[in-house]
Amino acid sequence: MSRQDYSVQGLEKILSPTLLFFREKIENNLARMLEIAGSADRLCPHVKTHKCPEIVKLALARGIRHHKCATLAEAVMLAEAGAASVLLAYPVVGPNCARLAEIMRRFPRTRFAVLADHPAAVEALSAAMTQAGTSVEVLVDLDVGQHRTGVAPGEAAVMLYEKIARLPGLHLGGLHAYDGHNQQPDAEERRRAVDAIVRDLSGLLEQLQQRRLPVPRIVVGGTPTFACWAAQHLPNLQCSPGTCVLHDANYSRKFPELGFVPAAVVLTRVISRPAPDRVTLDLGYKAVCADPPAGQRCVFPDLPDAPQVLHNEEHLVLQTPLAQRYQPGDTLLAIPAHICPTCALHDFAWIVEKGQIVGRWPITARIRMA
Ligand SMILES: Cc1ncc(COP(=O)(O)O)c(C=O)c1O
Repeated sequence: MSRQDYSVQGLEKILSPTLLFFREKIENNLARMLEIAGSADRLCPHVKTHKCPEIVKLALARGIRHHKCATLAEAVMLAEAGAASVLLAYPVVGPNCARLAEIMRRFPRTRFAVLADHPAAVEALSAAMTQAGTSVEVLVDLDVGQHRTGVAPGEAAVMLYEKIARLPGLHLGGLHAYDGHNQQPDAEERRRAVDAIVRDLSGLLEQLQQRRLPVPRIVVGGTPTFACWAAQHLPNLQCSPGTCVLHDANYSRKFPELGFVPAAVVLTRVISRPAPDRVTLDLGYKAVCADPPAGQRCVFPDLPDAPQVLHNEEHLVLQTPLAQRYQPGDTLLAIPAHICPTCALHDFAWIVEKGQIVGRWPITARIRMA
């Protein structure tokens, strides 16, 4: 990740801190996703990474019809961008059920699906859909080891699946398995972990088949295990990576074999030189995500070895013997360690094409409610 890979003309007039998207790199990442998946129909990319309708349109232009999201605002953003199939991969509870029904009425050309992992939740969803005079597709969320949401792929999953089949206002959408805990550095170890999940999944599929319950699709995984899942031969499998569309410094370091490149950076400027060996930037944790440990929240291709010694809301302080080279107003580019929450901090991203700023795209779904 050298500065040459991210050279941009015309930054003088661009206010900082701000997000830049490199369009060619996004296109390359989308092409790589299609290559790994084997076909567009085996993809259901998660849009929580970018929350940006223009990137959805790039995916649609490549024939990617199924899309995953985590919030109602992302579901609306997808429908407005023209997505025909939207999976809200999140348990829908409380008044959010009725809001989902309302959104479904607003976008009749989009087919919506949701996740469920609890009998009480499917009953509430069924009541809300019935009251709204509509019906939603439900995928049973399986807990395949992360222990965040989901039901174990055994008897309880079969019972929930049968319940969904019986309830009015719901129809069976299949199964969902997200294995965010599988981040083994060794790709072979990751592959073995996915193989073990597939054995459990196959057992569950057999039980559902014996009961003549249809499984229209199985939506699985994120970026680290994307290639492991894509190599499986389960019927109607859809891989749901998200981060790799924009990618980031963390995943590049941990999973170089995947072949994705960071396509988003934050433009920052030197605002102060408080000591001979210090450079202070306008890159606080309100401009770059702070969920990685302090000191590791971004990578500077120009100053890769400078320790990040202080990170406040609007300031990032670097310690470097090269500090004298920098004057207030000088620009640096920072590759975020974690891109998804970084995008959510910005209203828009400037678009770089062939090294030139050509416009900007809104991060429409950074709001929570829709
Ligand atoms: C349910 C679900 N699916 C897919 C993804 C995408 O994973 P990744 O960001 O590793 O691509 C996530 C990420 O948080 C997720 O929570």
